[in-house]
Amino acid sequence: MALSQHAAWVEQSGQLLNSNRVEVGSHRYTRPAPSTYEHQWLWDSCFHAIIYRWFDGDMARDELLSLVSRQVADGPDAGMIPHMIYWDGAGSELWGVPDRSIITQPPLIAVAARLVYEKTRDADLLRGVYEAACAYHEWFRRRRDPDGDHLVSLIHPWESGWDSSTRWDSVMGLSADPTDEEARAARMVLVKQLIAHDCNAHELAQAGFFHVEAADFNAIRAADLESLSVIAGILGKYGDSQRWLDEARHVQNAIRTRMLHDGRLYDLSGLDEQRIDEPNAGEFSALFGGCFIDSADALPLIKRLESYETWTPYPVPTTPADHPLFRPDRYWRGNVWLNVNWLIWFGLRRYGFHETAQALAEKSAALVELSGFHEYFNPLTGQGHGSFPHSWSAIVLDMIASA
Ligand code: GLC
Repeated sequence: MALSQHAAWVEQSGQLLNSNRVEVGSHRYTRPAPSTYEHQWLWDSCFHAIIYRWFDGDMARDELLSLVSRQVADGPDAGMIPHMIYWDGAGSELWGVPDRSIITQPPLIAVAARLVYEKTRDADLLRGVYEAACAYHEWFRRRRDPDGDHLVSLIHPWESGWDSSTRWDSVMGLSADPTDEEARAARMVLVKQLIAHDCNAHELAQAGFFHVEAADFNAIRAADLESLSVIAGILGKYGDSQRWLDEARHVQNAIRTRMLHDGRLYDLSGLDEQRIDEPNAGEFSALFGGCFIDSADALPLIKRLESYETWTPYPVPTTPADHPLFRPDRYWRGNVWLNVNWLIWFGLRRYGFHETAQALAEKSAALVELSGFHEYFNPLTGQGHGSFPHSWSAIVLDMIASA
């Protein structure tokens, strides 16, 4: 499949997503991958909808409607959209709840709905997700911003979507170079603490558990708030539209003033906001989140993106190649993930770095051409790893079709 062959990309992406599609009663969603990932995941579904918008608008809508249908209805976490939905009711053993997890994932629902709407003009989709997305962002403010600085906190690495990243080693109390098993065991233990503390972020932080204001997560939230503002405007809710835009600006400003130092973005840990000094590709999501004043302001970050540590033969490694713990084949510890590339690609275009964006699209396409729709890839060789075939890797279609 050459980059110019849109039709071939549409066909292959369609085959992939259709083969992973699941119907449960009146709901339809797309599993990330056969056997390994059978349930519905939050940010996966957002990427799926963005892919579907190019060839199946109805399915793009249904994917997002299924996702918001299991929003928490009552209790302290009312409004949260869970990071996993168990349509088979198999969640109890881990979470104590049958049909969903008790944590969230990067909020891209309004972004996805807006992008789908741009193609389909399906106002039913916007009406179907709007109130849910509003309640979700209210929940973030109520439950995840205990210090009121407009930066929301994660209470588990799974919420970042970057499960096993070097970013979380020290804050998870892990050794310098933990095995995958050690890191996974620590994540399982943390779930028990979340249940014990009723997922209260402030209480968990005071007790010394994982409490991280993550740069990429907050940047994604800023972009989602901007999209929510646009959706509110389309629906004629002009007061809401201004309110969501103001909130987006607060988040962008907080990222710029509290997380950005000398061209680097730092995740902040604990109530005393200690910088986590672990360079990673999540920093480049600040472009996606509109966190820079203009392209000149973004230049130091762009220079880092284009440096040899990060612009590997197949960019962008999640941990830079000169990091002592760079492991090109190990889950989230240096591999390329195409959904992360999409966020960076989108952000590059936002600030007018079109050539770099195009180069990233071409390199991303080359990975799929070489290895197929794998979950993640080795940034030095392009070899595919993890589950196969993995749905969100078809996000390359969006990079090609939007060019
Ligand atoms: C892995 C990834 C997570 C993703 C899930 C389903 O757990 O770390 O980000 O949502 O798989 O693809």
